[in-house]
Amino acid sequence: MNIFVTGASGLVGSAFARAAARRGHRVVGLVGSHREPVAGVTTTLRLELLDEAATTTAVLESFPDAIVNCAAVSVPEQCELQPEISDRLNVALPAQLARLAYHLSARLIHLSSEQVFDGTSEAPYCVGDPVSPINRYGRQKVASETAVLQGAESLGVSVRAPLLMGNSATGARSTHERLFADWAAGRTPKLFTDEIRQTCTAENLAEVMVELCERNDVHGIQHWAGAEPISRFELGRRVREHFKLSEGQAPIASVARADVPELARRRQECLKLAVGPLAAKLKTRPQAISDQLAELKIPAPVRAWYLGRA
Ligand SMILES: NC(=O)c1ccc[n+]([C@@H]2O[C@H](COP(=O)([O-])OP(=O)(O)OC[C@H]3O[C@@H](n4cnc5c(N)ncnc54)[C@H](OP(=O)(O)O)[C@@H]3O)[C@@H](O)[C@H]2O)c1
Repeated sequence: MNIFVTGASGLVGSAFARAAARRGHRVVGLVGSHREPVAGVTTTLRLELLDEAATTTAVLESFPDAIVNCAAVSVPEQCELQPEISDRLNVALPAQLARLAYHLSARLIHLSSEQVFDGTSEAPYCVGDPVSPINRYGRQKVASETAVLQGAESLGVSVRAPLLMGNSATGARSTHERLFADWAAGRTPKLFTDEIRQTCTAENLAEVMVELCERNDVHGIQHWAGAEPISRFELGRRVREHFKLSEGQAPIASVARADVPELARRRQECLKLAVGPLAAKLKTRPQAISDQLAELKIPAPVRAWYLGRA
């Protein structure tokens, strides 16, 4: 297949390019500011996605069988700081790509988030549960799902994804990479003992997205996540243990939501997703935490620190 990927330099986009190339697909990868080659990308296009006309031209000239949208302002705090830009990237862009997918009869795989929910339920959220976003990013994801449903109809899929582990192109984006950045800089990350997430790796999510490109009988909104819930604190502890770091080399401060009520109000307590319906249709399996840890690499920016620790 000929696949057009936005955000090919990002955490998920770069994992997707590698996974798609392994399956023999041709990947046209769009990058923004990234300058290095991205593994798996056949043709790299450097493009400002806020430029609607240039984006339309790039898609039409590629004439893809599938469009995969991994571009976004993906950090919730950044969405609050840049409301206009994040609205355009996170809502207007998927709407535009949905119209283009419909025009070309191409598949559209779009990424949404667990953050469409408020995290007050202990039970895993199902696709049909009412959405209840508590921040701008979550509201943008809800709007993007609606735009994909309306624009691309049965050609489109929005996958709600969890907090991601994995290995990014920059080595500074995923959960374990940010922990390593703190440790190498001598900082002690504070992690909540009572904030629950159901992580998977970007690589595992990418396998799901490749399967979705190849299928035309899965559409609408879908949930994907890992096989087990874990607190942020426990996840940090497991990362430290996996890389054989001591508490002195890789300190973590435990925090409870009750300790910081102001902050806790702006964060979801428990985000679990029911993945059974999509897992039943795919070959890719939801991962246990141990499988996720086994995929992680020492991030390039802190390799010297890691090798030099004593
Ligand atoms: N990371 C997570 O934990 C997580 C969890 C759930 C859902 N998601 C969703 O999954 C998707 C991918 O997330 P991610 O973590 O892979 O994001 P990311 O690592 O932050 O990558 C974002 C990508 O978007 C590109 N981009 C941003 N603004 C651009 C612009 N104006 N013009 C051109 N390209 C632009 C970036 O390109 P350059 O870097 O080259 O500028 C980069 O390739 C997003 O929709 C995100 O909301 C992520």
